[in-house]
Amino acid sequence: MRDMHTTRLIDDTRSAILESYRPALIPLSTNLTVAAFPLMKVYPADYCVRRAIVDGMRSETLVIESSSGTLALGLAIVSKCRGLRLTIVTDHACDDPFRRRLEDLGAHVEIVSRPAVSGGFQRARLDRLHEIRRKETNAWWVNQYDNPANPVAYSALAAQLLDSIGKIDCLVGTVGSGGSMCGTATYLRMLLPSMKAIGVDTFGSVLFGQPDAQRKLRGLGNSILPANLDHTVFDEIHWVSAAEAFTATRRLHQETTLFRGPTSGAAWLVARFWAAKNPDLNAVCLLPDDGTRYRDTAYDDRYLSKEGLWLDRLPAEPRQVNNPVDASGVWSCMNWQRRTYESATGKSRTSNHEQTSPELSVAS
Ligand SMILES: Cc1ncc(COP(=O)(O)O)c(C=O)c1O
Repeated sequence: MRDMHTTRLIDDTRSAILESYRPALIPLSTNLTVAAFPLMKVYPADYCVRRAIVDGMRSETLVIESSSGTLALGLAIVSKCRGLRLTIVTDHACDDPFRRRLEDLGAHVEIVSRPAVSGGFQRARLDRLHEIRRKETNAWWVNQYDNPANPVAYSALAAQLLDSIGKIDCLVGTVGSGGSMCGTATYLRMLLPSMKAIGVDTFGSVLFGQPDAQRKLRGLGNSILPANLDHTVFDEIHWVSAAEAFTATRRLHQETTLFRGPTSGAAWLVARFWAAKNPDLNAVCLLPDDGTRYRDTAYDDRYLSKEGLWLDRLPAEPRQVNNPVDASGVWSCMNWQRRTYESATGKSRTSNHEQTSPELSVAS
């Protein structure tokens, strides 16, 4: 059943298909517009591949990435369009329907079954990725966490937002690799230098100084500090719990019909609050993917109550903290003030440095 063809689509077809992944810009109130992507990660997948082709990648090169998330699907779509071979190294977090979709698009999916003794599944995935790279002399590792083409991909989004909305006072979005928020904000600020950037993270993610811990939310947050995360882009950071993100996702659906994933719910919760507090200013909020992958989680009431992820009432506002380690339990917010990681947290980024080396960077 699997389509093993690696013939590329004709240029017009490829352009039209990739164009169809541009976000719909939907005003949810007089001063809040959401950018609702079918799949945001098509942007960095396409741009990183185009960049690699310009840098000399050949059509027979094997594209390889470690991912259990939406970047894997973005790469599968782009590789299919361009007739490229793709291997995704992943683990149990890649659910069966998602794996089948990747394989239907011609990707080879390697599932790592055991965690490494040190470094868990992330380490085990990378060990396997590097093993494949050693055997396959002609392979190119996308490496979304450190590849500078990831944030640059969002220049096209910034142009679309400027063309359609013009005056943007605040950009709100979740942070995983940092590519979407850092890239979009950096390009928007070429014309709008005072525009605020609000990053949305979750508890137990090290991105903005929380101690690493198990997390129930995927896509946002991280256990490592990616090179693509430029902390000086952000004016404010919000930490949102899994229950708040899941509940907000359902509220967004119930109130607007927008069928989105949990990172969209988390971003919308924060953006709606900011827009209501600043009625004369315009906010734009990035909604990274749709709800298809979350039908059995965010959209299943039984799952939500079993896991304790449903809240009868969302908090009306965040709790203000001055230090990331004080953010816990309920939606919290810190004035980051475009500071470096070191200056905002009082901790050295180098304590995480070992983890940001290419060897340890893992796509979610
Ligand atoms: C569903 C989803 N939302 C948000 C993000 C965060 O985007 P970025 O990696 O650009 O920071 C990701 C990253 O993988 C994601 O998969």
